[in-house]
Amino acid sequence: MNYGPLPRKEDARLVRGKGTFVDDITLPGMLHGAVLRSPVAHARITSIDTAAALAHPQVEAVLTGRDLAGTLPGRDFSWMPTLSGDVQAVLATDKVRFQGQEIAFVIARDRYSARDALELIAVEYEPLPVLVDATRALDPGAPVVRDDLDGRTDNRIFHWSAGDKAATDAVFAAADVVVTQDMLYPRSHPSPLETCGIVADADPVSGRLTIWSTSQAPHAHRTVYALITGIPEHKIRVVSPDLGGGFGNKVPIYPGYLCAIAGSVRTGRPVKWTEDRSENLMAGSFARDYHMHGEIAASRDGRILGLRARVLADHGAFNGAAQPSKYPAGFFHIFTGSYDLRAAHCEVTGVYTNKAPGGVAYSCSFRVTEAVYLVERLVDLLARELGMDPAQLRMANLLQPDQFPYASPTGLVYDSGDYPQALRLAMDLAGYADLRAEQAARRERGQYMGIGVSFFTEGVGAGPREHMDILGLAMADAAELRVHPTGKAVLGVSCQTQGQGHETTFAQIVAEELGLDPDDVDVVHGDTDRTPFGLGTYGSRSTAVCGAAAAIAARRVRDRAKIVAAAMLEVAESDLEWADRAWRVRGDPEQARNIGEIAMAAHSGLRLPDGIEGQLDARAVYNPPNLTFPFGAYICVTDVDPVTGQVVVRRFIAVDDCGVRINPMIVEGQIHRGLADGVGIALMQAITFDHQGNCLAGSLMDYLLPTSAEVPSPELGTTVTPSPHHPIGAKGIGESATVGSPAAVVNSVLDALAPLGVRHADMPLTPAVVWRAVQGQPLRTDLAGG
Ligand code: CDP
Repeated sequence: MNYGPLPRKEDARLVRGKGTFVDDITLPGMLHGAVLRSPVAHARITSIDTAAALAHPQVEAVLTGRDLAGTLPGRDFSWMPTLSGDVQAVLATDKVRFQGQEIAFVIARDRYSARDALELIAVEYEPLPVLVDATRALDPGAPVVRDDLDGRTDNRIFHWSAGDKAATDAVFAAADVVVTQDMLYPRSHPSPLETCGIVADADPVSGRLTIWSTSQAPHAHRTVYALITGIPEHKIRVVSPDLGGGFGNKVPIYPGYLCAIAGSVRTGRPVKWTEDRSENLMAGSFARDYHMHGEIAASRDGRILGLRARVLADHGAFNGAAQPSKYPAGFFHIFTGSYDLRAAHCEVTGVYTNKAPGGVAYSCSFRVTEAVYLVERLVDLLARELGMDPAQLRMANLLQPDQFPYASPTGLVYDSGDYPQALRLAMDLAGYADLRAEQAARRERGQYMGIGVSFFTEGVGAGPREHMDILGLAMADAAELRVHPTGKAVLGVSCQTQGQGHETTFAQIVAEELGLDPDDVDVVHGDTDRTPFGLGTYGSRSTAVCGAAAAIAARRVRDRAKIVAAAMLEVAESDLEWADRAWRVRGDPEQARNIGEIAMAAHSGLRLPDGIEGQLDARAVYNPPNLTFPFGAYICVTDVDPVTGQVVVRRFIAVDDCGVRINPMIVEGQIHRGLADGVGIALMQAITFDHQGNCLAGSLMDYLLPTSAEVPSPELGTTVTPSPHHPIGAKGIGESATVGSPAAVVNSVLDALAPLGVRHADMPLTPAVVWRAVQGQPLRTDLAGG
């Protein structure tokens, strides 16, 4: 068996500092770019004067939006398409729409001169009223952010709904109990260790463009570059080398990338651009920013009957959200969670504001995180209203194993699950009854201890292709397996590791299917010249989609090998069976050939049946019939000091089910990371703005990342419910813990504060927010900016 805690193959280079990241790429004659960004959030540009910057002795070129219009014949890429089919200014020409927006690009012989020369560019602005508060975006008279769009008179981007409104209203009208709560899932940021960057090398002789960039989706990026620049796609190569994390931040194409390409075309020399931390936080892709109104209906004895949600989605100045075209609010309709209810209805309205664009799936399968947070907070509030224990209320309402496949009231079909088993295991690991007893004793002593529960279901692994695409590119992925004569194999995949260990787990998949050692399988990714086309890695798609393609390609190799083995053993194919890592003669298992032996024969002069070509290579494109649905039960124990507002996360118990685990050690690493994310989001971080649209979280001194000081060593449990449609029964895990954990932390803190009557506070529950919640003060003002 090749599934197991194999040490990560990629760590041999990564832990020795021998990885190659984009900023490590240095080419002869390479120039360096820097982006001039807007200091104001909303203003008309009346003039841009680049003369002084151009006169800087180290500067080779300065590009403004107008220059982009003439760089490549017949192309104006001062505007570019976003992943949601909107258009975004590459370099602003008419007005700036958020603080940090790109205005000009300086290309110099070294990075420092490029940055220095930014200060020599003079831009005149005519200030405009700023729209920061999304709840005001649809007010009559609100400043119109996107007056560049024909006929646009307001800030509405889309209105989308799912579920049966009439049926849901009827359930609510007849219910004994209805609990309602407004909540904000604040703007957060993936903030990977490595910021975004590119080296663009346009060769004026061959017409080839080679790009090294931080990309989670190199093939999709290549297609988009071809469409924008007009450079033929077969002349573009995108290489995404080692990535220092991505978490959704490296899915979009950023203006800096196109400026570097234009700069390389313009100068005939390679151009590197690497953003700094503040640029990454202020102008790169944000996540979440959902203003949610949720309602839950139940019977007095604790039966959950219905859910309703109304959401206002702040998408910033350009709709750059990364999600399938048909689903402008991603998979938010999974907000019915893990519960058996009669009806549900949700509606989401997207609006423009004067903030950075984004809406990326930050460790999340397209808005599932927001949905899980909403339902899990509502269930806790319901428990409080009914005077029930929140874990018991969940247990009484969870879907039962015999209900799968389960068609949710909003149109998703969950593939498999044993939810009660997972929650029971989490409660056992936590010692739930003892914890509640301890809590009661502490309350007697005036201490505030919280026990927060959350249960989540995710939908990961988008397509199928007929329902899911980005910019018309269907969400399917591919694998290409080459088997050399000596039985060593190379697997090319269209997904892209950012630190998740694909070079190990994908080798394990192939090794398992072919009876090889994982060390005999090399995995190639992140190079469009060496890998098959596919949509890349985000929304935990890799194992669910590309991992399936790898298993199918390996099975195709095995099928070809069977034909060769039959010829080698001079038996009929039907006499062979695959057992113990080889093709064996039925009833005479000693007569056998393994893949190494078969590969050599397949490349030899062995006579094969007519029409059989020899060699074993195979490829597969996997179009998933459905999402896979991992799930989990989390319990978080906190101690809260209501005087200082300090929250200490004492314990975190997480039971995850991602189907068959290829590498449990890597899976646990993913969960550790996601739980830390959850603590950060719940307690420490948000991208906030003042009333003028100044970003107040432009550094890691303001946008706090959790460390081992804030996050305890988690206690993990596992259940295994294979996905029935996935070739190896695997589901995703990459983002589960980020999806499930914020609700557990917030439920825990509010459980601790329940004796003080605190029923809700918006994340992040910083000491100041907790303290104000205890005082009964309103909390929204420092987040909404209005
Ligand atoms: O798309 P992404 O890689 O971010 O997420 P994923 O497919 O859920 O995988 C995260 C890591 O966990 C990869 O290295 C997977 O191969 C591994 N994994 C696993 O070993 N077993 C599973 N059932 C799911 C993921």
